[in-house]
Amino acid sequence: MTPADGPASPPPGAPRVRITGVGHAVPSRILTNAELERTVETTDEWITERSGIRERRIAGPAESSSTLGTAAARAALASADVAAGDIDLIVVGTSTPDGVFPATASRIQDALGARRAGAFDVNAACAGFLAALSTGMQFVAGGGARRVLVIGAETMSRIVDWTDRNTCVLFGDGAGAVVLERGTASEPGALESFVMRSDGSLASLLYCGGPEAPAIAGSPGGPYIVMDGRNVFRQAVTAMSQAAAEAVALAGLRVADIALCVPHQANARIIDAVARNLGLPGERVFTNLDRFGNTSSASIPIALSEATAQGRLRPGDHLLMLAFGGGLAWGAMVVEWAGVRTGPGSVDAPVARAAEPLEVR
Ligand code: UT7
Repeated sequence: MTPADGPASPPPGAPRVRITGVGHAVPSRILTNAELERTVETTDEWITERSGIRERRIAGPAESSSTLGTAAARAALASADVAAGDIDLIVVGTSTPDGVFPATASRIQDALGARRAGAFDVNAACAGFLAALSTGMQFVAGGGARRVLVIGAETMSRIVDWTDRNTCVLFGDGAGAVVLERGTASEPGALESFVMRSDGSLASLLYCGGPEAPAIAGSPGGPYIVMDGRNVFRQAVTAMSQAAAEAVALAGLRVADIALCVPHQANARIIDAVARNLGLPGERVFTNLDRFGNTSSASIPIALSEATAQGRLRPGDHLLMLAFGGGLAWGAMVVEWAGVRTGPGSVDAPVARAAEPLEVR
């Protein structure tokens, strides 16, 4: 908000697209830092200090990106008070699809009974939700769809090398979803700006599979995530700070107008550095990575669902979302918050703390 005169208006002509529902779903199985201390050479202190992560959720054998995505989508549909049969399109951001094809979006379409909906996945690694959301919003704005479900769904635990302490302490599983609907000029809700960028020449800093993937001894499955954490960290801070400043300016706003920033939840130190660069006070930045770790495409919608449940956004607020990951690919979006109808839904099954031993491959 601007200090004196309330929320600044979206730029004239900003597409009227409303986020009318939010929801998330996470597996019940919690994997704590203390448990990881028993499987790799690490400490709770190191993980907490270097990343901010204390625990993460791990999918059980019957769970997948599509089952988590379906549960998150059901919660978002309930929150929007929209029936699955009224959805025109489902876009899923994921880099851990159930299989190469069919698209995870098609599996979710079937599970929901969304009979009229088209469905496809997008993969921009950790920037996948922003890629999916900007796509879905433009379908609505361009008239190609009236109601769109956008989902970020991941089972990162399936592509983590559980013997690699550089990566296995960071990632977790889960899904988040939003419902998009067409709006009018007289009600809040707009796509104010988005910036999507990539530098594929830096792919070797963070990847899973492909010709550059080294064989990992003792890992029959694979391929697994490989990351040069220190360099990804540096790139992430610079790229997200620049993209955020650009998106805010494109929306015709100043950083002071941003009511809440929901960044990708990879590392608390990255988030703090970006907020410092932008001049964004900590209380206007939402984090929940201490409880979920890095859930890639799912991190922003899970955080958005929790932020909404905590009443952190009001209709007319300007919401800034930021993401960065493998590709390298990154982005920033500014959205005028419409307000959800019946409060966000969530599926957070009764907690199973260390119920079964972690299966280390
Ligand atoms: O979502 C996609 C984008 N991903 C990210 O944004 C992640 C970006 N990177 C990071 O979050 C951080 O770089 C990490 C959390 C991965 C690492 O933190 P860091 O402060 O950059 O540590 P580092 O990689 O510089 O490693 C410092 C030391 C190393 O030991 P030496 O070489 O200094 O002796 C590592 O071997 O910490 C060691 N180390 C660990 N020690 C205990 C690495 N992983 C661990 C561990 N436990 N789990």
